[in-house]
Amino acid sequence: MAELQEVQITEEKPLLPGQTPQAAKTHSVETPYGSVTFTVYGTPKPKRPAILTYHDVGLNYKSCFQPLFQFGDMQEIIQNFVRVHVDAPGMEEGAPVFPLGYQYPSLDQLADMIPCILQYLNFSTIIGVGVGAGAYVLSRYALNHPDTVEGLVLINIDPNAKGWMDWAAHKLTGLTSSRSEMILGHLFSQEELSGNSELIQKYRNIITNAPNLDNIELYWNSYNNRRDLNFERGGDITLKCPVMLVVGDQAPHEDAVMADSGGQPQLTQPGKLTEAFKYFLQGMGYMASSCMTRLSRSRTASLTSAASIDGSRSRSRTLSQSSESGTLPSGPPGHTMEVSC
Ligand code: BEZ
Repeated sequence: MAELQEVQITEEKPLLPGQTPQAAKTHSVETPYGSVTFTVYGTPKPKRPAILTYHDVGLNYKSCFQPLFQFGDMQEIIQNFVRVHVDAPGMEEGAPVFPLGYQYPSLDQLADMIPCILQYLNFSTIIGVGVGAGAYVLSRYALNHPDTVEGLVLINIDPNAKGWMDWAAHKLTGLTSSRSEMILGHLFSQEELSGNSELIQKYRNIITNAPNLDNIELYWNSYNNRRDLNFERGGDITLKCPVMLVVGDQAPHEDAVMADSGGQPQLTQPGKLTEAFKYFLQGMGYMASSCMTRLSRSRTASLTSAASIDGSRSRSRTLSQSSESGTLPSGPPGHTMEVSC
């Protein structure tokens, strides 16, 4: 592998009552498609995969995942796993703007950078958590490297290339709104944007004033130029691992606007997502019910078969019923859990 750089950064992280700080270490590795930065929290746990996250366009790992990973109930889950949070190139805090003419990697190439990260860390398997463009990148990685992916949490994934209608709409929006409003329109519904809640104000502020907006536009262009993942139910091109599919009820492309969440459920509904994630991990045999909160334990008992106490893995156990946070089932048994929140 090519040249490696390492930078140590101690992250600021507000502590929840009774919690001790977890060290975070940021690294950069060179890959055939340029350098990629990622931040590791926690220490590797024997016989457990790393949780590896990939963020959406307009965000970085912190703005995308901090509210979820710092959510109180999430702590009992993540303390059992090392976490690797990838920043797409040019999205890391303080990233310099790429020079004019820089060829930003395609989403497929972003996926091809992941083996360099895992090789550097000497990690063999992951549970991927991706949002939007990040969910696409992790799916592509899982299709190419199925043996290294134990599970995937895909939030607001669009596995298809843009059709000509999408392109026309995209071009029209490009003529009538700013780059930052275009990105915000990808992340949030029009209803949320016009509601202008504190959360929307915060993210509008982050994106409008991003010093790396030119880089963000390059990631955005790669997202819009993605090709079909070509998933076929029961066909040759399928994800081989258990998948938790999450759709925000107000995701910009979700037609049926339902309950009380938004386009970015990991920001607006971290509690529901945490609960669903626990069920998902328990279905994979990673969360012994003794580790679960009393509330989750009682719900989970009725939703899943028992997970083994030592946390050993079984792909046959899975959720097959709706949880309070959303609808699950469908898909091949033991593999897909669908959550709408
Ligand atoms: C984590 O503990 O994995 C985490 C903390 C802060 C931001 C993102 C992730």
